[in-house]
Amino acid sequence: MVPRRVAEGVYWVGALDWDRRLFDELIPLPDGTSYNAYLIQGARRVALIDTVDPSKVERLLDSLRDLNIERIDYVVANHAEQDHSGSIPEILEAYPEASVVATPRCRELLMDLLHLPEERIKTVEDGEQLSLGDKTLEFIHAPWVHWPETMLTYLREQRILFTCDLFGSHLATSDLSVRDEGEIYEAAKRYYAEIMMPFRTIIHRHLERIRELEVDIIAPSHGPIYENPALILDAYERWISDEVENEVVIIYVSMHGSTGEMVARLVDALMGRGVGVKPFNLTVTDIGELAIALVDAATLVVASPTVLGGPHPSILYAAHIINALRPKLRYIALITSYAWGGRTLKMLKETLSGLQAEIIDSIEIKGKARERDLERMDRLAEEILNKHQEIGVFKEE
Ligand code: FEO
Repeated sequence: MVPRRVAEGVYWVGALDWDRRLFDELIPLPDGTSYNAYLIQGARRVALIDTVDPSKVERLLDSLRDLNIERIDYVVANHAEQDHSGSIPEILEAYPEASVVATPRCRELLMDLLHLPEERIKTVEDGEQLSLGDKTLEFIHAPWVHWPETMLTYLREQRILFTCDLFGSHLATSDLSVRDEGEIYEAAKRYYAEIMMPFRTIIHRHLERIRELEVDIIAPSHGPIYENPALILDAYERWISDEVENEVVIIYVSMHGSTGEMVARLVDALMGRGVGVKPFNLTVTDIGELAIALVDAATLVVASPTVLGGPHPSILYAAHIINALRPKLRYIALITSYAWGGRTLKMLKETLSGLQAEIIDSIEIKGKARERDLERMDRLAEEILNKHQEIGVFKEE
């Protein structure tokens, strides 16, 4: 992979990972990803912003050789997660003069995760600056984008903000910067949904601070660079806002058809009332698609058969993830079908207890749905419509 010029004296020296299909052994990557590292050549000092996943370290070293980099003074670690920090040990070995620059919390993590020697890590406070001669790096502590130690680095003279995970997208592309705004919007929304959504309220504060900076380029450490920062800043403003849409997400599994029949009736009843609906049969669902749908939805419906006294394990798994992602849902409804008993509704309520959403209905159906059971789906759709009207998201066409 060849280095690519971002601006005068600033180069992308990262790596594309076209084939990676799973991140953290959890998150699907339908479009691969990239690990962006950036080299900044100042008049007196040279800095490397983040590194790459250890599986791609040779790519990074090749790029540095291509640029004839004989000395690196600072390796800025915006984030300790190994897809960005994991090649620091090799860089420190290849460039023995280099110091790692990190927040105090990041230093601790780098020592624990990579066994970096303490004396090679220089900590920086929030707002601290570091001169490279004619270029100045300013460090902005921004915890919880994605871990507690994260920071952003601002190259003041060239108005470039290096944001690591924040504003990233898991997208392997030959485009250095955004060319297809539709494609990046979807990829960035998926990334937000999977990685950033749990930190929505904290990101709100960081965005206010970023808006105070003069930024011409946002350079994240996954996916393409934004030469039009407003594109991603405005998108994040929408995603993190408290506003929800007239949309219902349904997650369901059906073993013998009863739950499926109720979900089908509910989908029809919602559509017939002008309420948007996205049903996800979890046997065929990409969990990332589900996460994206949850960014704006007002209501979640969970429909599960009862298996061994509780929810179907796929439902329990998804409910656990939804609870951890903390989407801005306002309402939840629960539906279960059972043959002889169980604790499905209780377990679902416990699993979703971290969400600040009102449970508007809990429905238990014994056996195959009867007409009276299906009519309850009509009533549930009506209840959801009323709730969406109450909060002003349902608009008459
Ligand atoms: Fe891309 Fe949280 O690491």
